[in-house]
Amino acid sequence: MISKRLSMILSMVEPCEVLCDVGSDHGYLALAVLKKGLAKDVIATDLRHKPLQHTQKTFAQANVFEHISYFLSDGIHQVNTNPNTVVICGMGADLILKIIKQDIDRFKIMTQIITQANTRLPYLRKEMASLGFEMTEEKIVKDGFFYIAQSYHYIEKAIELKEEAINFGCLLSVEDDLVYEYLLSEKSTLEFILKNNPKSKKHLYLLSLLKTRLDERVN
Ligand SMILES: C[S@@+](CC[C@H](N)C(=O)[O-])C[C@H]1O[C@@H](n2cnc3c(N)ncnc32)[C@H](O)[C@@H]1O
Repeated sequence: MISKRLSMILSMVEPCEVLCDVGSDHGYLALAVLKKGLAKDVIATDLRHKPLQHTQKTFAQANVFEHISYFLSDGIHQVNTNPNTVVICGMGADLILKIIKQDIDRFKIMTQIITQANTRLPYLRKEMASLGFEMTEEKIVKDGFFYIAQSYHYIEKAIELKEEAINFGCLLSVEDDLVYEYLLSEKSTLEFILKNNPKSKKHLYLLSLLKTRLDERVN
């Protein structure tokens, strides 16, 4: 049984030949991808020995010894084949972007890149767009916290996103109850910040954008 967050990420994986889970840690996602038949082969990478051993243990306990390879690697840098799909989840946006940028030419030829950042999500959306990665799906789940994941592919030209899309999601519909709840929590956060710093132009602007989006809800 995987977490709601990992289930959401799993639901975004398109069938492929080879999927690479970067920073696999426990290996639950990589194992679920293989078990569900979403990839013929899975690559699990981690920067550190211990998490990679954890992944290996997860696969051994599930009696899965084929169609999986393990790489001690910084992102995909030490991975010697090109996966079709890469999942980079459960990390900060800065680290996700560092991993993508250091092997950008390899990411450009991938069919699908799935990200789920724990921090600085607006920065991730903005940077991915300016690097030429188009978002094709964005999903949200609540499991204690709100978790938001994106699916991307490369389109060879930089995309300029509006501030509203950068900050409150490109493909998150206000008609979705969970999205609405999330946006209300973002509104509370902005109001709290403005209470302590009422003249912050940036936060006043974001709050006005957010209110407009919330008002667009019809149901
Ligand atoms: C918080 S865990 C997330 C695990 C899993 N991806 C998930 O979403 O549940 C982050 C993992 O990324 C690994 N990591 C950190 N930097 C990395 C890098 N540059 N390349 C590969 N793995 C990295 C860490 O060792 C850790 O196992």
